Amino acid sequence: MNRRKFLQSTAALAPFPVVAQTGITKAQVALDKTSEAYWQTIIDQYDVAEGYNNLNAGHWGLMSIPVMDAYLENTRKVNRDYSLYVGSGKAVDPDRFDNYWQEADEVIAFLANKLNVGADELVLTRNISESMQLLFAGYNKLRPGDSVVFTDTDYGSMQAEVRYLEERRGANVISVSVPDPASYQGFIDFYEKVIKDNPTIKLMLLTHMSSRTGVIAPVKEIIAMAKSHGVTVILDVAHSWGQFDFDFGDFGADFAGFNLHKWIGAPLGLGLMYIRKDRILDIDPKSGKGGKGNTEIKNRIQTGTVNMPAVITVPKAIEFQDSIGIKHIGRRFRDLRNQWVNQMIDDDRFEALTPQDERMYAGITSFRFRAITSDEDYGKLHRTLLSKYKINASPYGGMRRGGAIRVSPALYSSKADMDALALALKDILG
Ligand SMILES: Cc1ncc(COP(=O)(O)O)c(C=O)c1O
Repeated sequence: MNRRKFLQSTAALAPFPVVAQTGITKAQVALDKTSEAYWQTIIDQYDVAEGYNNLNAGHWGLMSIPVMDAYLENTRKVNRDYSLYVGSGKAVDPDRFDNYWQEADEVIAFLANKLNVGADELVLTRNISESMQLLFAGYNKLRPGDSVVFTDTDYGSMQAEVRYLEERRGANVISVSVPDPASYQGFIDFYEKVIKDNPTIKLMLLTHMSSRTGVIAPVKEIIAMAKSHGVTVILDVAHSWGQFDFDFGDFGADFAGFNLHKWIGAPLGLGLMYIRKDRILDIDPKSGKGGKGNTEIKNRIQTGTVNMPAVITVPKAIEFQDSIGIKHIGRRFRDLRNQWVNQMIDDDRFEALTPQDERMYAGITSFRFRAITSDEDYGKLHRTLLSKYKINASPYGGMRRGGAIRVSPALYSSKADMDALALALKDILG
């Protein structure tokens, strides 16, 4: 739906006034949040390319229209107020100007509260790749001969950060394949066995939700187990935050990277780096700012001028999510996943890469056809889905048991979109 249509549809809901800022109406509030009628009112708040069934939300998340409007307004403000916004404008003329540094600190405080961590443990980055690069390359506790481990379902660029430690820190890099099919206890046992079998492991990449499979790992248990063996975890939270409900503060993580432009739906070019306060000295500062031995997380990154309008739009994106409720969002994503997987699961030729265990999936689920294994053939299948069925779902390779297609619906996906996918898969299988 384009913006004009959206405004018309909002007007059509009169006399219910639009609640300020989020675009959520009183009419919506009255609807059952498990009903398609309710979700249609959310779908209507996205401007999505027509003619395609976009099931690749894992790449990045579209901003909803209210968030995009706020972003455009913030762009105008920063463009207009210029250096008065980052400089002394507010001090001299507080009625006319805001101050970027103050607003950015407020954004961090807001996000820290959401994540149940301290504001001094969090810093904005341009994306999770930057966060993880700073964490891995900056981790100064490794000694030559220490080992670092990653798995086949971690994200490629994150694996590369681990491999870089061989060159940078003289580390021994170990690569392993996670259990497939996945199971909750199977994952915990697997990581424990890897650590026990390799006592030199001191650092581990762990992904909360795999972008290749959609599997949600039991990270709280794995982090606790790793810690008990003296292993530090750097956690990749790219896909989970904003897709389903969890308490990050309860994970016990020491280091983590987040994206704000995937499931939070903020403007592109925003991530977060988390460093637990008592581990700050284990990550090298990025410049001489702050002096030797400084303990400020802000000194663990040196970005320079950033996309300020994007930063100050983040609270709007979270407000939009909050107007739905993260528990409802998680439920919706599981429903969308089940809508197509349950139509396929009894076919022996099909395999879903997330198990039928609600703790281990949300919206993303990859699938395989048992007859197809090569990464190349999954590339072909992706192109067939796109050209013949107008379904955009991403091919993934690099896993021990072969390639897959990742299906990642969004808040703008309907159950009918998932039915269309199941129909296409049945048609292809014949
Ligand atoms: C699991 C995972 N980690 C990290 C990233 C990197 O995200 P970005 O390119 O926004 O830094 C991705 C991107 O899809 C991902 O899927």
